[in-house]
Amino acid sequence: ETKKLLILPGDGIGPEIMREVARIMAWMSRARGINFDITEDLVGGASLAVHGVPIRQEVIDEARAADAVLFGSVGDPKWASAGFDRRPEIAILKLRQELGLFANLRPAKVFDALADASTLKPEVVRGLDIMIVRETVGGIYFGEPRGIETLPDGSRRGINTEVYTTPEIERVARVAFDLARKRDNRVCSVEKCNVMESGLLWKEVVTDLHAREYADVELTHMLADNCAMQLVRNPRQFDVIVTGNLFGDLLSDLASMLTGSLGMLPSATLGAVDANGRRPALYEPIHGSAPDIAGKGQANPLAQILSFAMLLRYSFNMLEDAAMIETAVANVLANGLRTPDIMSPGMAVVGTEVMGEAVVRELDKL
Ligand code: NAI
Ligand code: MG
Repeated sequence: ETKKLLILPGDGIGPEIMREVARIMAWMSRARGINFDITEDLVGGASLAVHGVPIRQEVIDEARAADAVLFGSVGDPKWASAGFDRRPEIAILKLRQELGLFANLRPAKVFDALADASTLKPEVVRGLDIMIVRETVGGIYFGEPRGIETLPDGSRRGINTEVYTTPEIERVARVAFDLARKRDNRVCSVEKCNVMESGLLWKEVVTDLHAREYADVELTHMLADNCAMQLVRNPRQFDVIVTGNLFGDLLSDLASMLTGSLGMLPSATLGAVDANGRRPALYEPIHGSAPDIAGKGQANPLAQILSFAMLLRYSFNMLEDAAMIETAVANVLANGLRTPDIMSPGMAVVGTEVMGEAVVRELDKL
């Protein structure tokens, strides 16, 4: 039966790069006979302008009804001074919360043609292909007690609490182990069990789950500070890294810079499998709405296109189509085409549309 896809382009460069995904979908329809049941709607500043809210309940319902959501980005300087409930960014926060998206998947993959764009030496990152799985709805960003208190002596203290329950740890570890089975079959679990009780429990729960259900996957453990060091020293030692909210926030940003450009990086956020075996999922580039280049036709559409490839792989199990899109992207880069953000000497600078068209041309050759 036809897969239901909700498309939310959002603000800034969002709609521009989403048009290039539409080009890929047109190719899938033409060349592979694959069609989706597509709904498109407004979020962020685009929704505020028309409906007065960053996201309507109707859109949240559409997201629930869809098999997957492809998101662009939200954020518009026009609304920067609006009240906190009228910020475009609320749209993505609300979607994550309403769909219960607890696992954030951030691949850091270095395309051969871009190995020299990394902040590290090309020989350290060439062939890099890691996946960081970050828990996103628990941990220190949400734990109670929290707040700022005034003490009897008039000084104040800020409080946040790292809390993880066994089900919270188990469900995100499960995502990591399942992913590893589709990749290089290795998981590294990251915490700070040397100084944190929540880390001690994390390690214990991951170890138990592994022994019970995932003994075929190779499991290692690493302290978070060492992991930061290892990611810079020898990032290729990792396949899947699974970690909590705070460490995952830092480590995934660190890992993304190993690959060079923001315009190349996709992501996914997954929720819990429901009674019908469906898993809510949202796919988006890690970059924002890039207001500085919006409307100029310069944005790199590859992160959005690669987010769509992730969607095909993880939500629709269309492994072959996902791999074809990724290969087409690699070939376009190997041919020397570059948007300004990934420009290097001797390469041809192209805009958003030419890049999207080039991916389709490569798809036609596969
Ligand atoms: P940003 O990621 O939008 O831009 C940072 C820099 O990278 C800019 O110079 C931009 O031109 C460049 N860049 C980003 N994506 C690019 C692409 N595809 N091709 C070429 N260049 C690209 O981050 P910034 O400037 O901090 O935030 C802008 C707006 O986006 C803000 O309103 C922010 O809140 C929002 N934002 C939204 C996110 C989301 O929707 N999930 C995530 C991050 C930021
Ligand atoms: Mg971040």
